[in-house]
Amino acid sequence: MNDKKTIFSGIQPTGCITLGNYLGALKNWVNLQNDYNCIFSVVDLHSITVRQDSAQLRKRCMDFLTQYLACGIDGEENIVFFQSHVPAHSELAWVLNCFTYMGELSRMTQFKDKSSKHADNINAGLFTYPVLMAADILLYQTDLVPVGIDQKQHLELARDIAIRFNGVFGDVFKVPEGYIPKEAARIMSLQDPTSKMSKSDPNVNGFISILDDPDTIRRKFKRAVTDSEGEIAFREGKHGVNNLLNIYSAVTNQSVEKSVNEFSGLGYGELKERVAQAVIEELRPMQERYADLCKNKDYINKLYTEGAQRAAYLASKTLRKVHRKLGYVDR
Ligand code: TYM
Repeated sequence: MNDKKTIFSGIQPTGCITLGNYLGALKNWVNLQNDYNCIFSVVDLHSITVRQDSAQLRKRCMDFLTQYLACGIDGEENIVFFQSHVPAHSELAWVLNCFTYMGELSRMTQFKDKSSKHADNINAGLFTYPVLMAADILLYQTDLVPVGIDQKQHLELARDIAIRFNGVFGDVFKVPEGYIPKEAARIMSLQDPTSKMSKSDPNVNGFISILDDPDTIRRKFKRAVTDSEGEIAFREGKHGVNNLLNIYSAVTNQSVEKSVNEFSGLGYGELKERVAQAVIEELRPMQERYADLCKNKDYINKLYTEGAQRAAYLASKTLRKVHRKLGYVDR
């Protein structure tokens, strides 16, 4: 490799890739990809903490990887792959499990959240999931992890685990930094702007899929929940309007202050229409590339096969170091 720093990030193949995932993560991956060695994974191992239909999962994994590429990720310059194709993720996760405390995992808000939503299936994977995420990151000696703010706690745990391991065995892992965008750190649901836009929201009007067609996008924004004040301003308590302003600002790459000025004196109807239009224009080229890529399965197959080989090579170097430090006999 060259002397560029390393990025690792991933999205779980559940539901669909939403505008939240795009603005919080994917768009930044695309912006950062030329300045870093990037490794982007469809983190399929993570997705089974909740029951999945196998046929749908297989298709969704392919769709997600294709959408990474359609968004502009260069899969030849960077590494794109399916997490399950590189066994080192599971292997390191086991080791790190032995360096993570139950207390730490019990404090994870996502665990509390998901276990209340899936009370009939609070499996051990749901509990230890942040350790697998730490393994994903630490395997590649990652410098930077571009994610939305909901992953901050998991990232901090990954840092703590790395520091703890290094404290025992010397410098084995690089301690990663997060990269969290300002405006798009937490895109909220269009139907309940006090909770985050989620790909598993049963109410499809709450989220925008990046593959939604223009009419659907317009309709969803039109129905977006705002407030009864009728004033376009960004301030505490105006959750719905704040969210629309954040989305607009992230899409147009401008500050919220500038967006507020742009809309001054206009009504919510106009705001929603303009945000919808900006999102439609942002997604249009991606959707066109997606349609083309779907016809080119061989190319995609080649990218993820080679991606997994390259990832496995890098991962094996870290794993070998870890095994030596632990005292395992060389293979
Ligand atoms: P996941 O699949 O829930 O989300 C993928 C990425 O999208 C971001 N995101 C959001 N950003 C802004 N607003 C939102 N409403 C929103 N919803 C989601 C997430 O922060 C994330 O960056 N555990 C991770 C996947 C993962 C991972 C990793 C990420 C596994 N291993 C290693 C980074 C590095 C997750 O469930 O993300």
